[in-house]
Parts: sequence; C-alpha cells; structure tokens
Amino acid sequence: MEALKGVRILDMTHVQAGPTCSQLLAWMGADVIKFENPQGDATRGQLRDIPNADSLYFTMLNCNKRSITVNMKSAEGKEVFVDLLKKCDIIMENFGPGVLDRFGFTWEKIRELNPKIVMGSIKGFGSTGPYAEFKAYENVAQAMGGSMSTTGVPDGPPFVTGAQIGDSGTGLHLAIGLLAALRQAERTGQGQYVEVAMMDGVMNLCRVKFRDHQRLTRGDLPEYSVPTYKDMGEVPRAGNDSGGGQLGNAIHCKPHGANDWLYIVVQEAVWDALAKRIGPEIHIPDLATDPRFATIGERRKNQQLMWTLINKFAEKYTKRELMAILNPLDVPCGPIMSTEDLANDEHVRGRDMWVELDHPQRGKWFNVGMPIKLSASPAVIKRSPTLGEHTEEVLKQVLNYDDARIAALKEGGAFSAPPKTPKAPKKVLAQ
Ligand SMILES: CC(C)(COP(=O)(O)OP(=O)(O)OC[C@H]1O[C@@H](n2cnc3c(N)ncnc32)[C@H](O)[C@@H]1OP(=O)(O)O)[C@@H](O)C(=O)NCCC(=O)NCCS
Repeated sequence: MEALKGVRILDMTHVQAGPTCSQLLAWMGADVIKFENPQGDATRGQLRDIPNADSLYFTMLNCNKRSITVNMKSAEGKEVFVDLLKKCDIIMENFGPGVLDRFGFTWEKIRELNPKIVMGSIKGFGSTGPYAEFKAYENVAQAMGGSMSTTGVPDGPPFVTGAQIGDSGTGLHLAIGLLAALRQAERTGQGQYVEVAMMDGVMNLCRVKFRDHQRLTRGDLPEYSVPTYKDMGEVPRAGNDSGGGQLGNAIHCKPHGANDWLYIVVQEAVWDALAKRIGPEIHIPDLATDPRFATIGERRKNQQLMWTLINKFAEKYTKRELMAILNPLDVPCGPIMSTEDLANDEHVRGRDMWVELDHPQRGKWFNVGMPIKLSASPAVIKRSPTLGEHTEEVLKQVLNYDDARIAALKEGGAFSAPPKTPKAPKKVLAQ
C-alpha cells in the first residue's frame, strides 16, 4: 500500500518550489488535487518545446496529481474552495506575499474552517522581517541565502548552481515539515501552519559555509586551496575544493573536453595507495614517502602541487579509465556526468531515475524518477494532468456535487477565467 494513501492535499502551488513538494507527496500516495487558476499554472506555457502542449517544465513537476480549475475571484469559486478545504488534510501554496489573504483566506480563517488541516506555505523570505513582502525566484534565493557568494572562483563573479536548491530544495524542506505536522495533527486533532522561506532553505543547505565563517574568527582555513586568513570576514569562493575535512578537486582527463573531468577526494586513508600508484608514472617513485605530502597537514599546505601531480597522471586517461584505476584503491571519485551521460546511464535507468512516460498532448517523454525509495511502497509514476482534467471528477467524487449544482456553479463562473475588462481607450490630448 502507498505510504500516504488516504491523505488528501489541496495543492494551490505553482511554478517549481511548491509543485516539487506536492509531486513527492503524490509519489508517496497522497491524493493531490492541483487547484489551478482557470488560466492554469503559468509553467504549462513556459519554455514550450511542442506548440499547444503542456511544457516539460510543467509535466516534470506535476505527475500523479489531479487538476481542477477554480476561479477564486468569484463567490462560486470560493464556495468550492471552502468545501474542498473541509475535505483535505493539507493545504499548500506558494503564492506571492498576501495573495491568499486577498482572497479572504488567512491562516486563521482556514483553521477556523478546518481545525485539523495542516497548511504549508512557501515564501521567498517568510511572513516576518524586512524582506517579507518581496517575491522570489530560484536565483534570488541562491543570491540571498549564501550560495552564490560561496560558489565560483575568488577572482570571478559569483555563480548560481545548476541544482535548484532555492526552489526544489525548499520544496523538500516543506515536505518534511508537512509530514511532521500531519503526524502531530493525527495525534492532537489540531493542524498547524508550516512555513518555509526559500532564503532559509538555501542557508540550511549552505550550513558548512557558516561553519567556515565562524572558523575564520580563529584562524585561516587550511583545507581551502585559495588564500584565507584570520578575521577575513567573508567565506571566499573556493572553486571545486571539497568543502569538507578531506581534500578534493576536479581533475581534467583525456580528451580534455567540457565534461572530461573526474572529481577525486584524496581521503587521508587512501593517500599511501594513491601515491604508490601514480608516483612511478609521473617519475616520482617515492611519492608515498615524500615529506611534502606525508601528513594530511602537509598535503593541505602543498595541495596545489598535489593537484598538479594528479592532473599530470590523469593526462593520458579518460575520466572512466581514471575511475577504473582509482576505484580498486578505494579512492572516492566520480566522473562529471553530463545530462546526456545521465539520460543514458545504465545505473540511472536501473534505479528508475530516468522514467519514460506518455502524455496525450506530447507523446513519449522522460521524467527524473523518485529519489526516495520506500521498500513497501515504491512510487508508481503517472503523467501530469491536463488543465482541469479532473474538475468534474473531483466535484462529484470528493464533494458529492450533483450535475445540477455543477451546472449552476459553472454558470456562475466558478471554473472559468473572468472575462477581461476592456481597457478604457487612451485619451488623445488635444494638440
Ligand atoms: C513565484 C512568484 C514570484 C510568481 O509571482 P506572480 O506570477 O506575480 O504570482 P503571485 O503568486 O504573486 O500571484 C498569483 C496571482 O494569480 C491569482 N490566482 C492564483 N490562483 C487563482 C485562482 N485559482 N483563481 C483566481 N486567481 C488566482 C492570484 O490572485 C494572484 O493575482 P493578484 O496578484 O491579482 O492577487 C510568486 O508567486 C512568489 O514570490 N511566490 C513565493 C515564492 C516562490 O515560491 N517562488 C518560487 C517559485 S518557483
């Protein structure tokens, strides 16, 4: 049986941060009702690769959900919302600040309508503090949460990471909070408000950088390959340094193209074996006993030279060949995998992390699979819904509305976008 079977979610989330969370919960078996603006989640039309088909941006983040369209700017739409609210265990949203309040549904009001409901809310910066009123997207959160200032090389600009730590990372944080609150609601009968700010989520993921920030008040950071000194204040960008207690770096391999790199961690325990293997080939047969690298302290001090020697050794091997040499020596290492590498990787396919799906508008497509593997309830991934695909189904099955009621609500504009009010013609000023 699915782990979250019987949990029903009123999912008002849009774009990436919220939908990542509700997709995970759907993959764990929750009945996720994607409650959409009649125009649809904006991502349905963003970065389209096929005309008139839901974009991959949308399909990859909204699997296993049911879609219903409801116009929250009509009294009839609000009626449907209130009825659904009473039938759900979780409501979640990631609107800009104040949107739900403007609909007339503050957390206090929602809780009054359903005291057991858990409410999940993602904001760029949370509901309190000087930044609370600001909107945010992925890279804004990466900029403000400490990620960008610590990513890149010291004399270059700050960089964003490809991993969507601001959006998808925040979605993960919210999922954890919702599950904890759900457990508490089951025990106490009382729901609660679960808030995750994207900036906070990025800070959480940059935790070790704040470790280093405080260490800088006592001395330098010897494991960094770039210069650091006591009281320098800011943690510097440190390229591909490992960021941990062990030394690590990316090593360029044959044929020296954009992704011909192997990331190697020179763990303390493996130095002897590594030095014995590479030393003879780079004409330093006694590398293992060379005092410049004899202890981890010495290797930290002389790490630029150490990386130069390892790069020299790597020159005549591809990343896969080098990996095959280092794995038997127990050296933790991994080739830099391109998206093309991953889409075709046997290991990835074997772990159901690149899953083929079908869609009525786009045909065959692939989604990244479910990374959390539950032994008793593995995820079964189903395609994303088309806009409003389940409106009638949800109204009948969840709310027990009959045809006459649905027709009346429809007539009242509950499920459609309000007609655009024509703009007043511009006044032509007399010459
Ligand atoms: C992502 C974000 C910047 C997008 O901004 P936006 O496109 O202006 O969207 P908002 O969420 O501010 O507003 C949504 C609008 O749709 C309307 N809307 C949403 N659902 C609706 C429905 N079912 N019926 C009618 N209107 C609806 C809202 O009323 C609002 O319009 P309003 O401003 O006239 O009140 C913003 O939502 C945000 O900051 N979210 C929180 C942080 C976040 O999650 N960011 C990451 C996204 S991946």
